[in-house]
Amino acid sequence: MIICSCNILSEKQLREAAEEMRADPNGKVPTPGAVFRHLGCRPKCGSCFPSVIDIIHKKGSEEGSESETEPAPAKRAASR
Ligand code: FES
Repeated sequence: MIICSCNILSEKQLREAAEEMRADPNGKVPTPGAVFRHLGCRPKCGSCFPSVIDIIHKKGSEEGSESETEPAPAKRAASR
């Protein structure tokens, strides 16, 4: 799925770039701007940043799973 329409970057590209940056002991912290530079491009409008931040902070555990699980419903403090 394309996350950044300005640079045509997919979720997979962003996730892999963040993983490469984390794996490099001399690498930079994978911020959205750093991840874009790692991919050889620059942020333009910035509207994708919330999604980019979510993606780069997900660990590799979701790697390869195209079907995202739905977020768990918020637990209510109903049991009193
Ligand atoms: S959609 Fe990513 S910079 Fe515009």
